[in-house]
Amino acid sequence: MDKIVVRGGVSLRGEVVVSGAKNAALPLLFASLLTEEECRLNRVPQLVDIRTALRLLRDLGVQYDWLSDSQVALSARSVQHCEAPYELVKTMRASFLVLGPLLARFGRARVSTPGGCAIGTRPVNIHLDGLQQLGASIRVHHGYVEAEAKQLRGTHIVLDFPSVGATENLMMAATLAAGTTVIENAACEPEIEDLAAMLNAMGAQVSGAGSHTVTIEGVEALHGTTHEVIPDRVEAGTFLIAGAITSGNVFVRGARADHLATFLGKLRETGTHLEEGPEGIRVIGNGRPSSVDILTQPYPEFPTDLQAQMMALLCLGDSRSVITETIFENRFLHAQELVRLGADIRIHGNTAVIDGVALLDGAPVMATDLRASVSLILAGLTAQGHTEISRVYHLDRGYERIEEKLSQLGADITRVKNKE
Ligand code: EPZ
Repeated sequence: MDKIVVRGGVSLRGEVVVSGAKNAALPLLFASLLTEEECRLNRVPQLVDIRTALRLLRDLGVQYDWLSDSQVALSARSVQHCEAPYELVKTMRASFLVLGPLLARFGRARVSTPGGCAIGTRPVNIHLDGLQQLGASIRVHHGYVEAEAKQLRGTHIVLDFPSVGATENLMMAATLAAGTTVIENAACEPEIEDLAAMLNAMGAQVSGAGSHTVTIEGVEALHGTTHEVIPDRVEAGTFLIAGAITSGNVFVRGARADHLATFLGKLRETGTHLEEGPEGIRVIGNGRPSSVDILTQPYPEFPTDLQAQMMALLCLGDSRSVITETIFENRFLHAQELVRLGADIRIHGNTAVIDGVALLDGAPVMATDLRASVSLILAGLTAQGHTEISRVYHLDRGYERIEEKLSQLGADITRVKNKE
């Protein structure tokens, strides 16, 4: 397993370009199952999770070709079967998003339940309840969801929780249902709006995406389209924190302030200078950050996917910060690793109390999940001496060439390939 070694103390300078959003690209890839015509996606990031999604689609019979290193063409004309195997779904939970499209287009699907992961149990009850309300018969048997529906029928669904994945699965399923579907308490994330934009470009009739009420008028069939994936707001936020934590001056090209409003407000509260423009956002670090409190909530509130990265910055705060994680039940795995770097963090259930320290000390640490791994890199950028992060395969799931991008900003960071 590869390691990443960071030598702290360099103030980052320069410009970094944000890649396409992982959490937009994944449902967009699966949306190609809804038509027999070719779909082209631009600004697709080169990530392990994207390759896993493409492997699953190919396994289903979808043909795809990379037209460039960020454009992929997909054709689901000759899908032979509708089964998503455990081996693939367990490595990437978002594979569960094939359920809605397969059910809508082929009337049947057999998809492994994704199971939990490091940050939580991650149930799929909201997905399944919604599909049943659309008229699907659902059976969970030997770890697989077996779903059938001669014809999905539009209906009024109220989600128990604004689940991102459930909103995406149900939106895709409803595009080919007979009649109108209204999804209330829908997730509002930008990735939902991006999916709706592609579905509408394919001939669907989705309105209200980005609000808590999404309406879908079912249509007979969808056609192909070309769509550009939105920039990755989580990667953008990560690089803004990298500039702040190293008291640097970095232009994050492609960062969209309208996708990061609450996060940017909180980052400004730490004393970090931010300049928003049409091409991106400039971050200018301002010495030791002011401590602030963070409460993660569904969009547009503070995103859970930037909680670990913000915790790294707040380890250096000038007093006490309290972070409350309300989305996942176990998303503080990075805290103990940050403590190894000299941070003062105490966990009480879903609350982390961070008493800022003036300096962090480099040490060997271990990545546990995707966003935790990048918070350790951020801490390493400022820690004295060397920080060695193991199990960086977590990192490669969601960040495209991050050590190259950070090196271009002046960071002293290298990936050590492990022989085994
Ligand atoms: C998406 O996961 C993202 N992944 C996550 O990003 C992100 O953290 C999450 O949304 C919240 O914003 C992708 O888009 C691929 P949810 P998803 O359904 O859809 C509970 C990353 O780091 N829930 O909104 O799985 C669930 O347990 C990843 O890029 C149910 O109880 O998130 C969780 O506590 C991590 N029943 C909460 O809702 C359900 O049927 C939010 O889950 C579905 C969800």
